[in-house]
Amino acid sequence: MTESGKRASWSGQLAFVLAAAASAIGLGNLWRFPYLAAQYGGGIFIAVYLALVVTLGFTLMLTEIAIGRKTRQSQLTAYSRLRGGWGVVGLVATLVPILITPYYCVIGGWVLYYLKAYAVMALTGASPMGEAAAESGAFFNGFISAPFAPFGYALVFVLACAGVIVLGVKNGIEKSNIVMMPMLLLMAVGLAVYVACLPGAGEGIKFYLVPDFSSCDNIGKVVLGAMGQMFYSLSLAMGIMITYGSYMRRMDSVPKAAVRIVAADTFVAVLSGFMIIPVVVMFAAKSGAGRATIDAGPGLMFVTLPKVFAEFGATGAWIGLAFFTLVLFAAFTSAISMTEACVAALCDFLHVKRNTSVATVCAWCVAVGSLSAFGYGRWSGVKPFGLPALDFFDSSMNVLTPIVAALICVFAGWVLRPKRILAECRRDGSAVGFKTFYAVMVKFIAPLLVLAILVSEVCRALNIGGWKI
Ligand code: PHE
Repeated sequence: MTESGKRASWSGQLAFVLAAAASAIGLGNLWRFPYLAAQYGGGIFIAVYLALVVTLGFTLMLTEIAIGRKTRQSQLTAYSRLRGGWGVVGLVATLVPILITPYYCVIGGWVLYYLKAYAVMALTGASPMGEAAAESGAFFNGFISAPFAPFGYALVFVLACAGVIVLGVKNGIEKSNIVMMPMLLLMAVGLAVYVACLPGAGEGIKFYLVPDFSSCDNIGKVVLGAMGQMFYSLSLAMGIMITYGSYMRRMDSVPKAAVRIVAADTFVAVLSGFMIIPVVVMFAAKSGAGRATIDAGPGLMFVTLPKVFAEFGATGAWIGLAFFTLVLFAAFTSAISMTEACVAALCDFLHVKRNTSVATVCAWCVAVGSLSAFGYGRWSGVKPFGLPALDFFDSSMNVLTPIVAALICVFAGWVLRPKRILAECRRDGSAVGFKTFYAVMVKFIAPLLVLAILVSEVCRALNIGGWKI
């Protein structure tokens, strides 16, 4: 950020890696990865995901961080700084955080509400969820369609985010991550170990890890599903890593940072599967609900898991409390990064003060977020393209991110050229031993893979063929 004319910076390599990992580790790891793995044949999905992460994921992470550090600009102005006429890439890239931050904060509000419910249950023994959670998800539906509550909780979430960001890169974002990230890791490992020790967990772990070819009829779908998940989970193609990279010090190593961020994010994603899948499988077997419980998809976190926690009796409230604290930290640090990408873009483009920019972004999140917050309740009639507002914003991201990713590959591979990115990677004096790999990936393989997701997303949006993933 251009505070007093000088761009802020992280205090060191660790602070940067922690911040970028905090952005990457979010709802995508804790909730989306396990349910996709369950749907797409367990070990098959995991293997495909890992293969994509070490090739495409690493390549794009490196590219974004290098562009950010080279230009010391956020995504909106970074491209035009490097090559006149390419500012449009920055504009499209900025659209993504602008569109998704408001609705992500609404989901953050849901998490906050669940956390409060579990805190009440754990501390008082009372059950605000009552029988409803165990039966039908009425607790969840009751909340998201309530007249005011979803908005109120989202507002608290947005204000908390703004409170951290207004303090600046070092004093706000960096310090909050130093507190939240180690706690998040500790809770995730603790919960996974607890689950693994439960009697009967072996069955679920097998379900998660052993490839199930019978439930995977089309490997193309698995690859596309894994690739979409990877972009989301690594916070790629949204300008976030460019913005965070722009605060990186020149003496720190870009490739080392990229490897660590990607590794940390993937570790937590795989760990989440160990935490969630065995309990859901055990519950499915016990309740006789079978695969339907496991395939619950997006409803897994807010509907299925509370049912599972209810099975544990009084301990369940504490497990729920630990779980939703973990989810809240993950969602909060991710929301901070998206908000920062918007705030920084505004500062770099209009040269406004940081506080003005934070207030503007905050007002935007509240205004646009209200569409999603009220979208299942009082404003359920407002349906852009026939979808509830929140689903609309979510889908817009699915189409925009592959477009941005394709543009980044073309820009880095063919306009700027790999050697300029690699030169930035060598700036701290370290040797770069993956020149050919990087050049082939960014020029040929990455654009082709990204194009495949784009085509599938367009087909899905227009409902063409059997490409629904
Ligand atoms: N990467 C985050 C996750 O896994 C989500 C995210 C998306 C964060 C976009 C920032 C920007 O949940």
